[in-house]
Amino acid sequence: MAETTTERETWSSSTGFILAAVGSAVGLGNIWRFPGVAYESGGGAFLIPYLIALLTAGIPILFLDYAIGHRYRAAAPLAYRRMAKPAEALGWFQIALSFVIAVYYAAVIAWSLSYFVFAFDLRWGDDPAGFFVGEYLRTGDPEVSTTIVSAVAIPLVLVWVAVLAIIALGVTKGVQRVNVIFIPLLVVAFAGLVIRAVTLPGAMDGLNALFTPDWGALTDPGVWIAAYSQIFFSLSIAFGIMVTYASYQRRKANMTSSGLVVAFANSSFEILAGIGVFATLGFFAHQQATTVDELEGLTGPILSFVTFPAVISEMPGGTIFGAVFFAALVLAGFTSIISILLGVAASVQEKFGLGQKASAIAVCVVCAIISIALFSTTSGLIALDTVDQWANNVGIVLSAIVMTVLVVWVFRKVPVLRAHLNRVSTFKVGRSWWVLIGVLAPLLLTYMLFERVQTLVTEGYEGYPGWYLNLFGWGTIAFVVVAAAILTAIPWRGRDSEDFHPWPELEEEQR
Ligand code: PHE
Repeated sequence: MAETTTERETWSSSTGFILAAVGSAVGLGNIWRFPGVAYESGGGAFLIPYLIALLTAGIPILFLDYAIGHRYRAAAPLAYRRMAKPAEALGWFQIALSFVIAVYYAAVIAWSLSYFVFAFDLRWGDDPAGFFVGEYLRTGDPEVSTTIVSAVAIPLVLVWVAVLAIIALGVTKGVQRVNVIFIPLLVVAFAGLVIRAVTLPGAMDGLNALFTPDWGALTDPGVWIAAYSQIFFSLSIAFGIMVTYASYQRRKANMTSSGLVVAFANSSFEILAGIGVFATLGFFAHQQATTVDELEGLTGPILSFVTFPAVISEMPGGTIFGAVFFAALVLAGFTSIISILLGVAASVQEKFGLGQKASAIAVCVVCAIISIALFSTTSGLIALDTVDQWANNVGIVLSAIVMTVLVVWVFRKVPVLRAHLNRVSTFKVGRSWWVLIGVLAPLLLTYMLFERVQTLVTEGYEGYPGWYLNLFGWGTIAFVVVAAAILTAIPWRGRDSEDFHPWPELEEEQR
């Protein structure tokens, strides 16, 4: 029997969907990755490749995710399977990659939770670097250790329990509700931080350091690669996550207009984060009687957990600023991780014909165990750094290439998907869409992938030993490929996908 539209849970309004999608997009990537990447990749000039990446790949691929999810009404594997049977494997590839991201992303939320508490008594003292790596994470030899650090494991368990509770509650009562509360809270908290930051002495020097354009950077392919990678991770596209979110949209849903709102909200938050972070760093440089260019640790975990604590200690009213900053990281991170887990749990639920709660429990428990075993040990930090590097620079790029090539060239679904988007949306997608997703994006991404892989193979990464990079870096990619193959090979046990009719009423209306 064909699935009827009433059976699938939906967001209760377009606002619910938009807030959830913004929640997924706005995450740690916006706060700790964007400002540093922009600074290192040409400052103000970086906005050019960034905007081009947003318009030529970010938004077009976001639309593609939405179109597939909304038309085929399922989480990634089933949605792709309904589009064309063999494409199911791509869905599992994306879901396995999301799973990898989730297991380390949770660890960073756990650190943020700890640091939220530490902010109250400036627990890191006057050596935040030593505190973070030594006292808190207890980083040490060997590279692969099974010694669990309880100060990390405890908040990590809390994160997983919270994620499980939300996923088990489902789309409307769980995920949507969290986003409706957390996203406005995050915006207000973050706006407060930015206002405080720009009024600190030295703030303007920080903003100048961030925004002064280095036009020469535009001729460096690495800068363009950085812009495209940032856009993919930040918009949560090509992970199968936005496919899943769109699948819970109601029939009459203005998909492309929502997409534009989400994309611009995400980028605005990113720029806001850049302003907040660099104004704060300007203040820090001012305190140290140095310049921002001389500072170190301006991106990633070190920015948030070493540099920021150092600044917070020097700032009048630092405890409040610190508590709000780490709370913002927790809020932003949590609304992103639940999007990933919803994607994974819904995929497992559909494939194995499980109940919603059963799949939530199964998926979250497995994720939690792996997350704790790998990232709350004394070797968690470098494992996280390595897995992150490969998942984001190799895995996601590969996923986007395979996705665009399959949809556009192998299964030739652009006309159907474009007609679908245009039937439901007020912002119409023009013919140039297929040029972007079918020609420009795959070519650029393939170039990026070769460039990256070559650098990783010849130069390694961060000086970590080769065997280690094979295990955690290339091993991550191998894991994703093998997991995708196994999950695709398992016979479909859930609802049969064969007799699916995409939105029968919509097809009717069109006749
Ligand atoms: N977009 C999120 C961020 O910027 C991360 C994310 C990646 C969320 C993939 C969902 C899927 O941090």
